Amino acid sequence: MKTVVLHGSPRRGRNSDTLVEHLLRGLTESGVQEVTHFYLNELEIRPCQGCLSCAEPPHDCVIGDDMTAIYGAYRDADLVVWATPMYWGYLTAQMKTVQDRMEALAWSGFGGKVFAVIVTYRHHCESAVAMFERICPYFDIELHTMVCRTYDPETGRDIPIEELPGKLEEAYRLGRKLSK
Ligand SMILES: Cc1cc2nc3c(=O)[nH]c(=O)nc-3n(C[C@H](O)[C@H](O)[C@H](O)COP(=O)(O)O)c2cc1C
Repeated sequence: MKTVVLHGSPRRGRNSDTLVEHLLRGLTESGVQEVTHFYLNELEIRPCQGCLSCAEPPHDCVIGDDMTAIYGAYRDADLVVWATPMYWGYLTAQMKTVQDRMEALAWSGFGGKVFAVIVTYRHHCESAVAMFERICPYFDIELHTMVCRTYDPETGRDIPIEELPGKLEEAYRLGRKLSK
């Protein structure tokens, strides 16, 4: 199974990345898997310009930047992991920029995949989850979602992901499930 991981957090190795790590442990445990990581914050990816050149065959984006590598890896992938914190009620800007640029694939090659969506958040995650739930049936995508609240409203404290072993286990189990 070919897997692409889109890391949407600028905080490398923190909450959403750690959940991905555990998901991949479950995914790869029973055999070698090809996994390609994209740390979006470290890439040069310009926002979609809305030119709709991609609507015409061959449906390529006219912007030449690091998104080209993501298009190639995405096309080949069976499983796409979207891991993002909530930022002001939605995906991080890094993740939203990639999502907008996926417009070029929406004309051909976006669908028929398995998505694993991991969303970390303090207060609300519904808008990000709802977006994936809306688009996936349309594109014939099998969706698996895992959300993780990293905040204690009683104390007002951010909870480091290491203090949420149940969630790490949940991510691992999701990886196991996706490997079958
Ligand atoms: C700029 C910024 C905006 C945020 N906005 C939200 C938000 O709108 N809703 C929410 O529930 N959490 C919000 N958070 C909290 C993060 O989603 C949360 O801390 C998450 O676990 C961070 O994940 P990470 O460690 O992978 O970066 C925000 C955090 C930052 C830094």
